[in-house]
Amino acid sequence: MLETKVSVPFYGHVRQYHNIKKEIDANIHHVLESGQYVMGPMLKRFEQELSAFHATKYAIGVGNGTDALWLTFKALGIGPGDECITTTNTFFATAEAIWFTGATVVFVDSDPRTNCIDPARIEAAITPRTKLIVPVHLYGQCADMKAIRKIADKHNLKIVEDNAQAIGARGDGFNIAQLSSAATISFIIQKNLGTFGDGGAVVTNDPEIDRIVRKLRNHGSEKRSCHSMGYNSRLDDLHAGVLSAKLKHIHDWNDLRRKWAARYSKALVQARNFTLPYEAPGYRHVYHLYVIETKQPHHRDPLLKFLNDEGIDAKCHYPIAIHQQEGFPWGQQARIPAPVPNSERNAACCISLPMFPELTEDEVDYTVDRSLD
Ligand SMILES: Cc1ncc(COP(=O)(O)O)c(C=O)c1O
Repeated sequence: MLETKVSVPFYGHVRQYHNIKKEIDANIHHVLESGQYVMGPMLKRFEQELSAFHATKYAIGVGNGTDALWLTFKALGIGPGDECITTTNTFFATAEAIWFTGATVVFVDSDPRTNCIDPARIEAAITPRTKLIVPVHLYGQCADMKAIRKIADKHNLKIVEDNAQAIGARGDGFNIAQLSSAATISFIIQKNLGTFGDGGAVVTNDPEIDRIVRKLRNHGSEKRSCHSMGYNSRLDDLHAGVLSAKLKHIHDWNDLRRKWAARYSKALVQARNFTLPYEAPGYRHVYHLYVIETKQPHHRDPLLKFLNDEGIDAKCHYPIAIHQQEGFPWGQQARIPAPVPNSERNAACCISLPMFPELTEDEVDYTVDRSLD
């Protein structure tokens, strides 16, 4: 039992900056001196690094992860009258991006262990209007893409992976962006690869998605002064410079996340009141979040408050499922063909313990100690 009260933050943004300050500062300086800040050479360089990282032909930097999603949906021709299947157990933006296109969101339940979309629930939700499946690699672990691909092939559907949370993760025998039309990424600061602000990207092997997203992100323009209906969503060169410096460290940082997750899981295995995250065999979970679940919903808020009172900045991702948000669905099209008890349970019982590469042993051990109290 540790005697001293430790303050454990939820994020380590400044620690991370200090650890690689020289590399980040050098790239920022380089951009500032270049005089090219929007659609400049640093963005081009980072896009090349990002596509190489994913072994895809293309990477397109955009303004944020939400735009990455809906611009990709638009590139696939998704629009009013179409149905897109996803899970309600995700950050709000996954559904929001589908609604931006005018399409109908169809929510199916999540797998009770991984909390990613449950492939076994997808087929029953398919109708002649279904065009797309949007699996989310939630908390840092890939959804079961092989099973999802099989269903998509059988019903002639497209897949876009929402990979806001799992850069550097792998499935059992597949990589992200390998079994889909495209994967989208968020670079908001709190993600595993985060810039000092907002950013996003699309990675794909499809030249048409590359062409259309590039055009849409830049006011529908492929050629100077020639426009069609589009949008303004570009990844600034300053952010690209920060991300270029950080991308070199992502595997090491994910290894550290896995190390802290293993330390938590080993020590918390004896916990009576909550369950621990599940890593599917053969998968590389990169623990964007380390999410425990109380066995009873009514135990969640008291445990969260206790941890917070003890100086541990635990949080919840996400305590109100999308279909349970006030005002849902705000005049948008949504369908929930079958009950979603696993997603509702996860929303009611989840607690995210502090998780970032720059944690210390003392912080992890103190969090364990208090969680078991
Ligand atoms: C699963 C998921 N999808 C989409 C997004 C949207 O990304 P952004 O905030 O960069 O728009 C996020 C994160 O914020 C997310 O966690």
